[in-house]
Amino acid sequence: MSGNSETQRKDGLRVLFPTLIYEAWYPDYGAESEQLIGFVRQLREEDKEGQRLSAREYPSGYTSYFTRSNLYSETRLAGLVNFIHQCAGNYAQQHRWDTQNFQPVINAMFANINPRFSFHPEHLHPYSHISGVFYVRSEPGNPAISFKDPRPARWMMPPAADGSKPENTFNARVAPEPGKLLMFPSWLEHGVPQNQTEEERISMSFNFEMRPRQK
Ligand SMILES: [Fe+2]
Repeated sequence: MSGNSETQRKDGLRVLFPTLIYEAWYPDYGAESEQLIGFVRQLREEDKEGQRLSAREYPSGYTSYFTRSNLYSETRLAGLVNFIHQCAGNYAQQHRWDTQNFQPVINAMFANINPRFSFHPEHLHPYSHISGVFYVRSEPGNPAISFKDPRPARWMMPPAADGSKPENTFNARVAPEPGKLLMFPSWLEHGVPQNQTEEERISMSFNFEMRPRQK
């Protein structure tokens, strides 16, 4: 046996069908956080129609999803939007998607405020390839986003296992952190449990699709 083939053969586990989650931190977020928090709170104040629809569709919380889902064109958010675009490019490249002929184009960006008792039921984001969230504000004790294992057959007969290991969990939780961004496949179901603290959790959600490059 040649030395080369010995190094290629190794007893152990092979990873198949991974779900890739991208994490990144907005550089020097502390300098911009108050401005971004103020922007979202002012948006809620002024968006009466959004407040009305949120009361009906998003109990106890506020989302601009119904009224202002184009925040990517807001000049006051240019720095954040630029950062999000860079992350989407990295995400596509690190997957080895075809970035020669397609590029990630943002098609929605909206703000969310989750005060005490508000929560976000499990959902996914149709008509997109990449979805994500950026944490504008969070405090210790605010709920973590929960990603649901997308392989339903796993529920058939799960063995007893250490559920704290990512490969064994059915709901993977990732804690919010001010200035942190998460990106994930749009088909991945996710939700946020009830906020049981007094502190508002503020986030921005967004979607990208891979569109053909103009040649
Ligand atoms: Fe979502």
